[in-house]
Amino acid sequence: MHTQPINPPQRLLMGPGPINADPRVLRAMSAQLVGQYDPAMTAYMTETMELYRGVFRTANEATLLVDGTSRAGIEAALVSLIEPGDRVLVPIFGRFGHLLREIAERCGAEVHVREVEWGTVFPAAVLERAIEGIRPKLLAIVHGETSTTVAQPLDELGAICARHGVLLYTDATASLGGNEFETDAWGIDVVTAGLQKCLGGPSGSAPITLSPRAVSIVNERKSIEAGIRAPGDRVSAHPIRSNYFDLAMILDYWGPKRLNHHTEATSMLYGARECARLLVEEGLPAAVERHRLHGSAMVRGLRGLGLTLFGDQAVRMNNVAGVLIPDGIDGDAARAVLLADYGIEIGTSFGPLHGKVWRVGTMGYNARRDTVLLTLAALEQVLRRGGVAIPAGGGVDAALDHYASEQAA
Ligand SMILES: Cc1ncc(COP(=O)(O)O)c(C=O)c1O
Repeated sequence: MHTQPINPPQRLLMGPGPINADPRVLRAMSAQLVGQYDPAMTAYMTETMELYRGVFRTANEATLLVDGTSRAGIEAALVSLIEPGDRVLVPIFGRFGHLLREIAERCGAEVHVREVEWGTVFPAAVLERAIEGIRPKLLAIVHGETSTTVAQPLDELGAICARHGVLLYTDATASLGGNEFETDAWGIDVVTAGLQKCLGGPSGSAPITLSPRAVSIVNERKSIEAGIRAPGDRVSAHPIRSNYFDLAMILDYWGPKRLNHHTEATSMLYGARECARLLVEEGLPAAVERHRLHGSAMVRGLRGLGLTLFGDQAVRMNNVAGVLIPDGIDGDAARAVLLADYGIEIGTSFGPLHGKVWRVGTMGYNARRDTVLLTLAALEQVLRRGGVAIPAGGGVDAALDHYASEQAA
């Protein structure tokens, strides 16, 4: 078979992620490999841990990468924390809450769920009542629910969990870097993320941070592999049910022991390190503000096109907006035209929202004024040619007015 070298078409990725990677991240990823115990490599690992402490806003020593996409971080967290039979509470407000439930069930947990309508979030008091009723070991909740574009406020939840002796895990894949997120100040025990949203990288590495309390729970179950075990090393009677995602062993690999586990995905580490460097260089508050500015300009522009937003706007993530697909428009066909004629990708939706809601992202490298204006201009044309009566230039005008008013403020 004769194939061509990889040469992907030019695309502007304005969906809910992945987005175009920052060129600095791509350059870092193309650097040559070194051995996994080369002092250069172990120094990169240590630097990456420190950089991600800045991104997660934590002092947690146990801040590292799990190799694999964001879902690998989720699985590592849940399989390492949950023992079969443990009670776990999963509040669900979209697709990724269902994913947490499914993974917790596969870990053998006794899973209890609470659900609210997609597009809304849970009041803290409702979660506290659920904790009181269920008395779980762990509460696992999504922060930014990409499927519905809203973010669950977490600022009170850590204190509530601490009051009831419950561990708190959250999936911040979609929100980290583009929305306020405070691991330590909010009292969150374990947080996982991914690179392909506000961090401006490709999927394939899952940053994670664990509080000292979470580390001690994980280490309780440490069982070092037979082939590398030394006399006196722990062999747990109730080991973590995955070898690859065994955070106790992964922590020994990233920690001073440097005990062999997997072979760290070197090119992904280079990329993940650069993602964090970019954010730390910009400053987390400035990055969040950039996402807020361009996200709100996109929202103003979408409204200017006469579109109706989906979800509770009071808790919308800065980096992704949902809009109702106008009557008479086939959502997937219109997305296909946007891609073919303009090279712009926006997102479809899952489950009950499929065919009803598009998701438009402004995140990471693509949280910029030019990308917002281009997307609005192209979408206007696609909608007009699809038969929707929309104000000429209404989207771009509204976004420009928004930028002007923000500048004046
Ligand atoms: C909130 C959230 N969690 C988990 C995932 C799964 O991530 P991945 O596809 O990188 O495994 C995604 C992906 O979009 C997400 O948005």
